[in-house]
Amino acid sequence: MALVNLQEILKKHDGAVGAFSTYDLFTVQGVIQGAEEAGLPVIAMIGAPVLNQPGNDYIGEILVDLARRASVPVCIFLDHAKDYATCMKAIRLGFSTVMIDGSHLSIEENIAITNKVTEAAHSLGVSVEAEVGALAGLEDGEEVKAAKMTNPQHVAQFLAATSVDGLAVSIGNAHGLYKGKPNLNFDLLQEIAKNCEIPLILHGGTGLSREQFAKGISLGIKKINIGTEVKKVYMETFITTHEKNVSAWDMIAVPQACKNAVAAMVKRELEFFAAGWKTMC
Ligand code: 13P
Repeated sequence: MALVNLQEILKKHDGAVGAFSTYDLFTVQGVIQGAEEAGLPVIAMIGAPVLNQPGNDYIGEILVDLARRASVPVCIFLDHAKDYATCMKAIRLGFSTVMIDGSHLSIEENIAITNKVTEAAHSLGVSVEAEVGALAGLEDGEEVKAAKMTNPQHVAQFLAATSVDGLAVSIGNAHGLYKGKPNLNFDLLQEIAKNCEIPLILHGGTGLSREQFAKGISLGIKKINIGTEVKKVYMETFITTHEKNVSAWDMIAVPQACKNAVAAMVKRELEFFAAGWKTMC
């Protein structure tokens, strides 16, 4: 149907849209298949460290190609780029949205790099996500030890000085597996949302509860990122399917099972983010 950017995909939606990390052909196919089975829009992401692996431009090209052929709107998204060059690479590959992650910088430096990327991206119809505050945890091999909760005053300063299409926040969410029960600060989210006209984004979706997703969406979260769960579903399916018939070394059935398992998870989450959450509020 259509390759769409972040602004377009979030505008058409009254709940939240799921954004899923991809790593190879089968995760890419699984994410798009799950969205088609749900009949819902989806955001397919690739992390900057993954795209920057030698030879991995092809995964970006496959994402863009499959998005164009999909029967539902698909946003192809570069996740957590820390530099201008990676954003430009993704844009050259045809991505519809890039995230410039200046969360490790001072607020002034974050504004400066975000504006540089946004100027180029918007001139080509590409949307931009940014982050204020920083998440702890491990994502695509990159670790942040301590979180910086999002400061609402920094959000106001950031939004006045930039024109991004979505803003990721740090409210107790973390990348990777949570150590103990995740504890989200919804008062802080409410405070941020009060003066924020653009969609808010929740990273670190793996391990959050249905109640937490529903509360977040009710307070203005429009995009929810899921990464570790994609890897977990894929790898667990790989191991169990392979172990059923080890001597077959089945390079047809095993990856197909992984793809289908990713698709089933994506369908379930998309349906909850789009409508299921309303039954919990
Ligand atoms: P999880 O790996 O914790 O689901 O987080 C994914 C993410 O936020 C990608 O940006």
